[in-house]
Amino acid sequence: MVSRLLVVTSLIALALGKPVRRDLQLHESRQSVPRGFSLVGPAADETTLALRLALVRSNTAGLIDALYDVSNPSSAHYGEHLTKEEVEAFVAPKQETVSAVNTWLSENNLQSTSLTATGDWLAINVPVSQANELFGTNFSVYTQSSTSKQIIRTLEYSIPTDLVGHLDLVHPTITFPDPFGKKPVVNAITPSKRSETDSKRADNCLVNGTYITPSCLQSLYSIPTAPATSSSGQLGVTGYVDEYAEYSDLTTFLEQYRPDVNSSTGFTIVSLDGGEDPQSSGDAGDEASLDIQYTVGIATNVPVTFITVGGDVNSGDELANVLIDTANYLLNQTAPPQVITTSYGLDESTISQNLAYNLCDLYAQLGARGVSILFASGDGGVSGGHWDSSCTTFVPTFPSGCPYVTSVGGTINVPETAVNFSGGGFSNYWPTADFQTDAVSTYLSGIGSTNQGLYNASGRGYPDVATYAADFEVVIDGTAYGVSGTSCASPTFASIVALLNDQLLSAGKSTLGWLNPLLYSTASSAFNDITQGNNYACSDYTTGFDTATGWDPVTGWGTPDFTKLLSAVGL
Ligand SMILES: *[C@@H]1O[C@H](CO)[C@@H](O)[C@H](O)[C@H]1NC(C)=O
Ligand SMILES: *[C@@H]1O[C@H](CO)[C@@H](O)[C@H](O)[C@H]1NC(C)=O
Ligand SMILES: *[C@@H]1O[C@H](CO)[C@@H](O)[C@H](O)[C@H]1NC(C)=O
Ligand SMILES: *[C@@H]1O[C@H](CO)[C@@H](O)[C@H](O)[C@H]1NC(C)=O
Ligand SMILES: *[C@@H]1O[C@H](CO)[C@@H](O)[C@H](O)[C@H]1NC(C)=O
Ligand SMILES: *[C@@H]1O[C@H](CO)[C@@H](O)[C@H](O)[C@H]1NC(C)=O
Repeated sequence: MVSRLLVVTSLIALALGKPVRRDLQLHESRQSVPRGFSLVGPAADETTLALRLALVRSNTAGLIDALYDVSNPSSAHYGEHLTKEEVEAFVAPKQETVSAVNTWLSENNLQSTSLTATGDWLAINVPVSQANELFGTNFSVYTQSSTSKQIIRTLEYSIPTDLVGHLDLVHPTITFPDPFGKKPVVNAITPSKRSETDSKRADNCLVNGTYITPSCLQSLYSIPTAPATSSSGQLGVTGYVDEYAEYSDLTTFLEQYRPDVNSSTGFTIVSLDGGEDPQSSGDAGDEASLDIQYTVGIATNVPVTFITVGGDVNSGDELANVLIDTANYLLNQTAPPQVITTSYGLDESTISQNLAYNLCDLYAQLGARGVSILFASGDGGVSGGHWDSSCTTFVPTFPSGCPYVTSVGGTINVPETAVNFSGGGFSNYWPTADFQTDAVSTYLSGIGSTNQGLYNASGRGYPDVATYAADFEVVIDGTAYGVSGTSCASPTFASIVALLNDQLLSAGKSTLGWLNPLLYSTASSAFNDITQGNNYACSDYTTGFDTATGWDPVTGWGTPDFTKLLSAVGL
């Protein structure tokens, strides 16, 4: 009797002193610790976690319909991109969602900050002990073997049952950073290679074995050298993982490779989350230098903005955070740049499905606003962001699998063939997109049972297009290097889109926005079809996918022909 009474008393004390305990339901989980990480032990109770919450948006299906309606060239509303307010009307969470989440937050004495105008993304700070209770989990410390840095993550988390359908994502929880990161391959240019390549330049670089410069790309793809004339066209370049671009390197680059352009041409810096762009000797990053020099250097006279995002990504704060913050920053602009290029990515399997879907939804919103979102397809062939001989099935990259981004693969040689590192394949998160069902089924029937069981035949196929991606000359801290990777391809294609936009704007037409429905219909024949080569695979297989006539998951539709693209977009 006595002991039973005691139990009752203490239960009441618990109920009075603490918020109502809610039933929890498992929300997201991963089966194991991803490769490249090892468990250290429980996270300290008092450590503060900075979490981002995504609320369920009111009308995602309506947003996607609207996106197709303005992006499909055969639609009556093609090019009639949505305003900020129109997109926000689809995105704003329902009132019942807002109040359910707010009630739960205030019950737990948590203050939230809205990261967006509509309040669909919130930020909260919460100690580990409270987070463990709120989400029925045990946050733990993991070590990243490549860097020895420690991060706090969990392998599963729950949310209150009555928030299911309202709270869509808690992040970072089960998404681990990419263990390797994605960086282009950089090679010093030796004097003998220098003289060899310079002698070949005489042929406008249309020979094998030269280093690639803007004029090579201009002649390969018929890209105009004339300056853009419209006053409203813009091009955005993202800068992550402490990658910085130097004005002085750009000047050297323009003097050397674009003598017809004012070498004082610069770029505008936008800083998010404390992102920097220091300009001292030694600060230049390979990736940022490449991305800035092959946008300013090809999209002649299009204003370029370098969006540098901080957040200590190298110490385990994964790329996902900077992608969320970049997209939300752009969506909060009345007139964001109409083209954005990003040469960073992750293996799809490292990112939680809910987080991947939430990011993809942000790209759909940007597409509806008329922004073309370009990403490099990855440098590991079918083995992920980087070549990884240990994979046993093909590893798709993120965000290339998101149908609302345009994924850019790579080529090499003249005539062009697929470059073996060109990332390509099929997503496990998104099904074959509506705009590509014919292209994908034609390709798959062509390969028959090849690679069966190694890839997801019902997934979204990528890349969508390609450009040359090997041996680009880039000035890094004053010295020219040869840089290779699909990191070369995304800025090149972005510049072409920016120049197309310029001519559209000058003709009083709207910009291209989400490109994929156009690329898989009227513009598919505006590409040089790449039918030679393949991408490499996990060590046990000789090749990943082969190129083919038409679309293939190595080079997409092929490489651009600017003249044909102009007529494909009605100019
Ligand atoms: C959106 O932009 C406005 C105007 O620049 C700014 O005041 C506001 O803080 C921004 N909102 C968010 C959520 O960043
Ligand atoms: C958290 O860890 C404790 C102690 O190891 C264990 O009893 C509990 O079941 C774990 N909770 C969850 C949700 O994994
Ligand atoms: C370039 O190299 C490729 C592959 O080795 C070859 O097929 C092609 O003929 C070469 N092109 C020229 C112009 O030498
Ligand atoms: C080159 O650009 C700089 C910076 O915008 C400008 O000050 C200068 O006048 C330009 N020079 C010429 C020759 O147009
Ligand atoms: C990819 O191609 C390069 C040069 O064309 C070659 O050196 C390299 O070995 C190839 N890599 C693989 C994994 O096949
Ligand atoms: C393959 O893709 C489909 C469509 O997106 C998806 O439903 C399925 O889960 C994927 N399979 C695997 C093994 O990931």
